[in-house]
Amino acid sequence: MAIPSPSLSIFLLFLMTPALILASAVPDPELVVHEVHKSINASRRNLGYLSCGTGNPIDDCWRCDPNWEKNRQRLADCAIGFGKNAVGGRDGRIYVVTDPGDYDVVNPKPGTLRYAVIQDEPLWIIFARDMTIRLKEELIMNSFKTIDGRGASVHIAGGPCITIQYVTNIIIHGLNIHDCKKGGNAMVRDSPRHFGWRTVSDGDGVSIFGGTHIWVDHCSLSNCDDGLVDAIHGSTAITISNNFMTHHDKVMLLGHSDTYTQDKNMQVTIAFNHFGEGLVQRIPRCRHGYFHVVNNDYTHWEMYAIGGSANPTINSQGNRFAAPDRAFSKEVSSNFL
Ligand SMILES: *[C@@H]1O[C@H](CO)[C@@H](O)[C@H](O)[C@H]1NC(C)=O
Repeated sequence: MAIPSPSLSIFLLFLMTPALILASAVPDPELVVHEVHKSINASRRNLGYLSCGTGNPIDDCWRCDPNWEKNRQRLADCAIGFGKNAVGGRDGRIYVVTDPGDYDVVNPKPGTLRYAVIQDEPLWIIFARDMTIRLKEELIMNSFKTIDGRGASVHIAGGPCITIQYVTNIIIHGLNIHDCKKGGNAMVRDSPRHFGWRTVSDGDGVSIFGGTHIWVDHCSLSNCDDGLVDAIHGSTAITISNNFMTHHDKVMLLGHSDTYTQDKNMQVTIAFNHFGEGLVQRIPRCRHGYFHVVNNDYTHWEMYAIGGSANPTINSQGNRFAAPDRAFSKEVSSNFL
């Protein structure tokens, strides 16, 4: 039997990666929009029957289960929108973070968050207790991981934060991500078999670069060096839901640049977020792709809420916009950036 040489399999991997990324854009985004409305309607219809019901289909999906803590991995089936097929670590073991330290970013220690996220196997990562994790370098995630902060107060803060680069099936839920700093100019491990040199990182809260099937839910995000959640470079199949964002200038950049046409495949759902105090602009700022911005509560912005360039489709539905009490900042949308 012929065993492919390592160089051949690496070559095949390179050959396949762009195809996989392209494949995950759905041909008819309006169908996904329709499904989102169906699930919102269904949750609303159940309000009378379920005492736990909120009308938010994502929350009602897991919070109505009194044993959610025993059935944590069911959360993976609760997403809506373009990121709804992100399974994260649903089919893997539970891994408990017991150690908030980040001692060695090339050889991370078992028990730490970094040790978990670089593994090749799917993992559902939870926390033994409340903790603040100040990372030394970006947390470079491997595919098929969920970071589930439910049941503990977990802060990722004061250092570089989360990077989702050329990987797939990531769920980030229930974390407080704030005061994220630039990192880089360092060796960092991204899998059991590989570490590499990282140039300067942006200082995003969650940076998605060529990532697909990503769901960021129920996080609070504030005050980072660059974006709170940025998705660029061919990323798609993303849902950003139920987050609370405050105190930040350039909130969400979706699309790398006007000339980076591969972002035409970008499809993102932004749903049930609260955009609050101290936000300035880019909530989000979109390029090229299809963006469903639905049922968000915009209570504060200083320049504008939603912006776009390079021919994006922005489908804004059911949002509440409370404009600031200042001339020249009253407009929700902007295309003059
Ligand atoms: C959701 O409910 C609204 C209000 O009743 C209705 O107009 C809309 O057609 C419903 N959408 C779907 C997809 O069921």
